[in-house]
Amino acid sequence: MEAIADFKRLQPGGRYQPANCVARHRVAIIVPYRDREEHLRMFLYHMHPVLQRQQLDYGIFVVEQAGSDAFNRASLLNAGAMESLKQHDFQCFVFHDVDLLMEDDRNLYTCPQQPRHMSVAVDSMHYKLAYPQLFGGVSAVNREQFELVNGFSNQYWGWGGEDDDMYNRLTFHHLYIARYPANIARYKMVKHKHAKVNPKRFDLLRKGKKRFTTDGLSSLEYQVKDVSLEKLYTRVLIDFSR
Ligand code: BGC
Ligand code: MN
Repeated sequence: MEAIADFKRLQPGGRYQPANCVARHRVAIIVPYRDREEHLRMFLYHMHPVLQRQQLDYGIFVVEQAGSDAFNRASLLNAGAMESLKQHDFQCFVFHDVDLLMEDDRNLYTCPQQPRHMSVAVDSMHYKLAYPQLFGGVSAVNREQFELVNGFSNQYWGWGGEDDDMYNRLTFHHLYIARYPANIARYKMVKHKHAKVNPKRFDLLRKGKKRFTTDGLSSLEYQVKDVSLEKLYTRVLIDFSR
């Protein structure tokens, strides 16, 4: 019987390179995280076999927010991207919620030419795209594109808006969002309680454009409290408090 998951070939920190070829894509999967151990386990067991079948040179980086401030998904993604580049010369990032499990191997986690929104059809959303500008859930961005738009805004504390802000950044820079067909880009969402929404998100979003150049990678401040190379992932513990 074929092994369910070839974890033996994984390098420490959840890194992988195909054995018999040089991969064409070096992909850092960045997973913002806090207090979702069960989801994380499911995610890792689910993803490694797929990514290996896709013959990618990849690593999974779980970026955990220390402390009890509101969750800042966007800043975790910024920090995770920067930290991943200290480990390897990744060409692109896949920003990935921990509770989304992809369903179809044809949903390729390769580096995109244009930014690619990947979680097009999610079961909890009746497998329908909620709105054309949606860039949340799972999305892939090249390193150059990410740097061009100054990464994500760091101002979004709590749930919502940060992905819409990224959409605005991308389109402002004349990038457009690519998507695989909805019959391929399918995901299941693991059930969970809804996080605390950020009531300021609409206001932040409205005024977002003014901050594109000053708020993002250029203003990102964080402390790395720990980096550990686990078997199935690299854990990066991040503290934003000063
Ligand atoms: C929020 C986004 C979220 C989307 C789908 C929007 O209202 O601003 O952050 O991804 O809803 O849930
Ligand atoms: Mn979720």
